[in-house]
Amino acid sequence: MKSLEHLSWRYTVKKFSNQKVDQENVEKIVEAINLSASSGGLQPYRVIVVENKEVQKRLRADSFNAQIEEASHLLVFASYKKMTKEYITEFMELNSKVRNMPMSELEDYKSALEFYHLNKTEEESAIWAAKQAYIGLGTALIAAAELQIDTTPMEGFDPEIANKVLGLKEKGLQSVLILALGYRDLENDWNIELKKVRLPINEFSTIIK
Ligand SMILES: Cc1cc2nc3c(=O)[nH]c(=O)nc-3n(C[C@H](O)[C@H](O)[C@H](O)COP(=O)(O)O)c2cc1C
Repeated sequence: MKSLEHLSWRYTVKKFSNQKVDQENVEKIVEAINLSASSGGLQPYRVIVVENKEVQKRLRADSFNAQIEEASHLLVFASYKKMTKEYITEFMELNSKVRNMPMSELEDYKSALEFYHLNKTEEESAIWAAKQAYIGLGTALIAAAELQIDTTPMEGFDPEIANKVLGLKEKGLQSVLILALGYRDLENDWNIELKKVRLPINEFSTIIK
């Protein structure tokens, strides 16, 4: 199975080389994220692609993760703080257009989404949205590995700084994750040679028959 090979190949890069990732490949990874599953199909997060050393430096701020500055590109995952009636309506309009269905036929779906999401507290809504972004991160890791592009998934940054630098608050978004893209520095990345540490599969997974 190819994805097992890709997942075994990938590891968390600690030091990137200066080699840039092609724009076309960055776009493929973003497309893969866009194809990820999300609860209700609502995709309550956005991906901001950063390819600017000055912005990367500001995003790193005091973080221990030098990869934020050194990577070829960053994908910043930013999730919505709250689902709104307007967001759900726009989503239903997209459904109607793509599937060529009148809005009247989508009423039950719309009502269910509204009932489920508009009764959540802000905190519940934000946590739910962030979880969806993490699903996108998983897809991005696999897609990048298939393209032999190295990655560092990161929570180690200051989300408030990222929100300000990227103007996320104004859009109702908040940064939750950064995925750095690039190529491993073969001489200086201390993590290259270290073996993957994973649980034995029978401890990790239980089969109930
Ligand atoms: C959500 C998430 C956040 C992470 N945050 C960081 C981080 O801030 N800095 C870092 O170097 N690695 C970070 N990692 C990488 C993990 O430490 C790494 O995936 C784990 O040790 C397994 O190693 P592997 O990715 O090399 O297989 C993060 C991973 C995930 C999934």
